[in-house]
Amino acid sequence: MSETHINLTPELIRAALTTVKYPGFSRDIVSFGLVKNIEVNDGGAVVVDLIVESKNADVPRYIYENVMGVVKELPGVKKLDVNIEHHAPKSKKASANDDPADWKSSVPGVKHVIAVASGKGGVGKSTVSANLAVALSKLGYRTGLLDLDIYGPSMALMFGTKERPGCSEKEQFLPVEVHGIKLLSMGLMVDEAAPVAVRGPLATRYVQQFLRDVDWGGLDFLVLDMPPGTGDIQLTIVQTVDLAGAVIVTTPQEVALIDARKAVGLFQRVNTPILGIIENMSYFVCPSDGLVYNIFGEGGGEREAQKLGVPLLGRIPLDIRTRTCGDEGHPVALEDPGQSMVAAAFEGVASMLSSVLGE
Ligand SMILES: Nc1ncnc2c1ncn2[C@@H]1O[C@H](COP(=O)(O)OP(=O)(O)OP(=O)(O)O)[C@@H](O)[C@H]1O
Ligand SMILES: [Mg+2]
Repeated sequence: MSETHINLTPELIRAALTTVKYPGFSRDIVSFGLVKNIEVNDGGAVVVDLIVESKNADVPRYIYENVMGVVKELPGVKKLDVNIEHHAPKSKKASANDDPADWKSSVPGVKHVIAVASGKGGVGKSTVSANLAVALSKLGYRTGLLDLDIYGPSMALMFGTKERPGCSEKEQFLPVEVHGIKLLSMGLMVDEAAPVAVRGPLATRYVQQFLRDVDWGGLDFLVLDMPPGTGDIQLTIVQTVDLAGAVIVTTPQEVALIDARKAVGLFQRVNTPILGIIENMSYFVCPSDGLVYNIFGEGGGEREAQKLGVPLLGRIPLDIRTRTCGDEGHPVALEDPGQSMVAAAFEGVASMLSSVLGE
């Protein structure tokens, strides 16, 4: 162990732990969500608490040895305790959910899964998700959209459909096809008037089922419309799916940016890349005099993107047609970008995002 103890922080240790792979996987233990707690005191004593759920006793042993090996090499570490809480799954059935190897998987048949998140409610995640999906499909990509806001699903309304999803021979949901998009939403499963009164653990199960048991039939992009907030459901999502990354929606306002940072933190904790920021309701062009009004402030999205070192994928104006098109089941991005400023803005976001992902 080295003698100096400069800059020994939990963040530094967490970063070092990203080099420890879950046995048999290319993903690391941080992105699997196994690191529960890291403590460092001034004297260089470090405590790392991990939780491992696996039926294989070699897994915690391997992780212990590798964590010890990596952390004790860090400058300033004088004492190291690695505590592993190891749970063997209780039954065969439970093991399918409890082994981290099963938690996080790519969605079968989907090339890039993108989460659209914000932290703050009402900033336009669903509007952006719907229009981004449409814009990606207009660029020629096979695109799906999954509404994960099971308490307040909005995609049935935004796409003007009440069609029930089908069921495949393998007993998987079959998404509904509308405006060139494959769509699945809780709003298509329940009657409009019926409140989705499910409690936390059940809500988490629904979300997991939506992420796993859908036959998307081959997609380039699957856009996930995330529910507002950074709680259990959001955590389940980031732990369940191997995301290509997250797109953060914010308005230029400081209150929205504060919550956007919380969403960024959630994704960073599990090593999910932030693909970029979309600033929604950026400005308003007055139809009568053509003057531009920065109703929610100016430049917030750009500054945040710079701070994070990620691209600002686009600025979407505040626009009446965006709202009315959403309410009428015809996303504004379906319009001709030559005629609609907003459709052009979404086209720009879609092409920038596809190039960020190397398409
Ligand atoms: N650029 C825009 N111009 C005009 N209206 C917009 C714009 N973006 C969103 N809206 C409107 O703002 C309202 C909130 O948008 P939306 O439902 O997309 O937000 P959200 O972040 O998904 O909300 P929630 O947190 O409740 O899921 C909707 O009525 C929508 O039509
Ligand atoms: Mg929403």
